[in-house]
Amino acid sequence: MINMLKMVQELAAASLRWQTLALGLSVGVSALNAQAVAVEEVDEKKPLYAYYYSITDPFINNFNSILERIGAENGYQLTYINGSDNSLLQRSQLRECFDAKRSLILNLVDTHYAKETIEQLRSYGGRVVFFNRIPENSTVTDYPRAFYVGTDPLQAGVMQGEMVAEFFKAHPEYDKNHNGRIDLVLIKGEAIHQDTDARSKQALNTLASHGIEFNNLQSIYADWNYLKARTSLKRVVEREGIENIELVLCNNDSMALGAINALQSLGYNKGEPSRYVPVFGIDALPAALAAIDNGMLTGTVKTDMELMVSTIFKLLTSTSDDHEQLEKLIGLEIINGYVNIPFSKVLAEFPPARQKTQDQ
Ligand code: GAL
Repeated sequence: MINMLKMVQELAAASLRWQTLALGLSVGVSALNAQAVAVEEVDEKKPLYAYYYSITDPFINNFNSILERIGAENGYQLTYINGSDNSLLQRSQLRECFDAKRSLILNLVDTHYAKETIEQLRSYGGRVVFFNRIPENSTVTDYPRAFYVGTDPLQAGVMQGEMVAEFFKAHPEYDKNHNGRIDLVLIKGEAIHQDTDARSKQALNTLASHGIEFNNLQSIYADWNYLKARTSLKRVVEREGIENIELVLCNNDSMALGAINALQSLGYNKGEPSRYVPVFGIDALPAALAAIDNGMLTGTVKTDMELMVSTIFKLLTSTSDDHEQLEKLIGLEIINGYVNIPFSKVLAEFPPARQKTQDQ
């Protein structure tokens, strides 16, 4: 009897062990399933790599946000690699990229590195889309899987100059010191950058060709940078006096916003037309468009970032080497590997809308 009881107890315990084991197994299996699902989910997203000269540059940062979104909409997971404006660092990042045989979007710190990049990619058939800084030596022309997507710096300068001319023709009263010339400050990007001189010269040439006489009080390199532009403009104002500064022309929006900040610290560009210095930028960053709406910035030249990013994305992720077929895909011409994204003008309503409603 005791034995029978023991046997029943043992059987019950065994069955419990089995149940536990079975449960454990099923938990294990479902955990495995979950893992498999999770792995599949990660695997479903294809990798996308972008190497930047500097992610803290607001123009590049804006590019990156749009690329991340367009990538995700198309099932890609973006990884960006920040070169921190350091060419040695970027070279070592690129060596890792080549070892892993990646295709990439590339914003070079040092444009001399384009040739080696192409040689490396050629060895494993990778693709590259350069942007923002034109690779040296027409390197993209030699390899059908290399492209440069960018804007024409001359066009940016012409458009900026045209907007300035339009503004002064409509508002001659902004020659505040009545010397018959527009006294301007020119705030430039980096000295080594292809956009800097081209944008600057074309803007000034266009002003002259529209019959606007000007006096260039000072040209300053502020390296695309908000803070450098702000500090530099403050110095010029201290020297010349705010009443003698009638225009601030900037090679990009970050510097234009820095300049506006300097003017605002003197009570200017806050929406009051009698305390206003026209400021022009380039890029149409979201913050610059907001500054136009708020009556602080006078005009900017717009880079169509959506078009630029989607074009780059398509060229990188396509498997075709046939440039005619790729032209159909992107809806733009590819000339020897180069694709141009057209600019457009954004000129503020003047006097600023905010001021107008206050007056009404
Ligand atoms: C320019 C852009 C600037 C800055 C620079 C960096 O094209 O307008 O804002 O981003 O590139 O290379």
